[in-house]
Amino acid sequence: MSRHEVWADLARLKDRTPFYDAVIAEQDKKEPRRIRIGDKWLADFASCNYLGFDVDPEIMAAPAELIAEWGTHPSWSRLLGNPKPYLDIEEQLTELLQAPDTLVLPTITHIHMTVIPVLAGKGTVFCEAQAHRTIYDGSSVARGNGATLHRWRSTDLGALAVALRQAPHDKPRLVCMDGINSMSGNEPGLAAIADICRAEGALLYVDDAHGFGVIGERTATETSPYGSSGNSIVRHLGESYEGLVLVGGFSKAYSSLLAFLALPTQMKEYLKFAAAPYLYSGPSPTASLATVLAGFDVNRARGDTIRGALWHKTSRVLDHVRKLGLSTPNTSGFPIIELPTRQGADIEEVAEVLWDRGIYVTLAAYPLVPRDQAGFRIQVTAANTDEEIEELNATITELAPLLRPTDGDGAGV
Ligand SMILES: Cc1ncc(COP(=O)(O)O)c(C=O)c1O
Repeated sequence: MSRHEVWADLARLKDRTPFYDAVIAEQDKKEPRRIRIGDKWLADFASCNYLGFDVDPEIMAAPAELIAEWGTHPSWSRLLGNPKPYLDIEEQLTELLQAPDTLVLPTITHIHMTVIPVLAGKGTVFCEAQAHRTIYDGSSVARGNGATLHRWRSTDLGALAVALRQAPHDKPRLVCMDGINSMSGNEPGLAAIADICRAEGALLYVDDAHGFGVIGERTATETSPYGSSGNSIVRHLGESYEGLVLVGGFSKAYSSLLAFLALPTQMKEYLKFAAAPYLYSGPSPTASLATVLAGFDVNRARGDTIRGALWHKTSRVLDHVRKLGLSTPNTSGFPIIELPTRQGADIEEVAEVLWDRGIYVTLAAYPLVPRDQAGFRIQVTAANTDEEIEELNATITELAPLLRPTDGDGAGV
């Protein structure tokens, strides 16, 4: 299909549904997940602010004080001037993750585009087929710099082991994958993949953009199966950081513009010079550093209570979806719930019902996804009210005839 045809399809999609490029005019002061688009108020289930930190009064109050101290933006690149809040963040983050060390940079996209090529060198990048687009883009840059790019599937680990064995051992072998999957909300079989990488002497690179802040180590006192502390997939699955680099971000659960690598100190010191952002990129604004630091405080004091409530809200939606016999790839209970449409159903009709009933979601429509993968994705956050969850469930009931059943048209999960 030509670029012009794709543009035409995109333009038609934008014309026919109000879900793309929508201007959010305001959010309600008392119920912040009520958003206004034009003159329509909708309940927002499209943000990734899972913990509701974006509207937590304690976190909202934090930037003013730090800005009074540091100004709005520490506009040195980190190598040239490293304001202390950065070091405070890395110290607290290392402790939270129980990682050997951490390096924070502005975004995960920055990290993938610059760190993957450095770690891959002229060796081989093994990119998981479902990995996030930004991992694939970083791997493509690595290929442009002389690395070989190999795609693998998490459903065929035998093939990964063979490919790792066959790749030249005198050059880096870097295996890249997602932690919590951004579409299904499910966790990968990390232990088996890490075992293969360690046995083959390859480095494993895991992007847990969505998991960080939500899932964490399992404890006797945990408030939900998400676990405690929100310290990400490695701790959640009881894995170790040996031979593993964890990448995560604050732009979802922590509602702040910042991202990190959990890595050995020696690699951190090397990446400060070898990967571009530490020297060449502007840093995150002071407000983001402040909300990350306040987020750590709130996480310590109330994080597990918030995660317990988030689990409960998400379960209400998932239980309802299951009761209706609808298909969703979500088997984990994570607050990402994708609902595919029934074969032959019209996604524009689905979009119209959602809009009419005031439910704002991420619409997955052609040409953004292949026609047979159309549907919509719900993201539940701790800031969604019980009333909003009820409205969502009522709308799902109404849409059920257009949504894919767990059995029926053969495509259920
Ligand atoms: C899995 C995953 N990785 C990376 C990103 C990009 O993160 P950032 O906004 O920090 O660049 C996203 C954002 O949607 C994501 O879902």
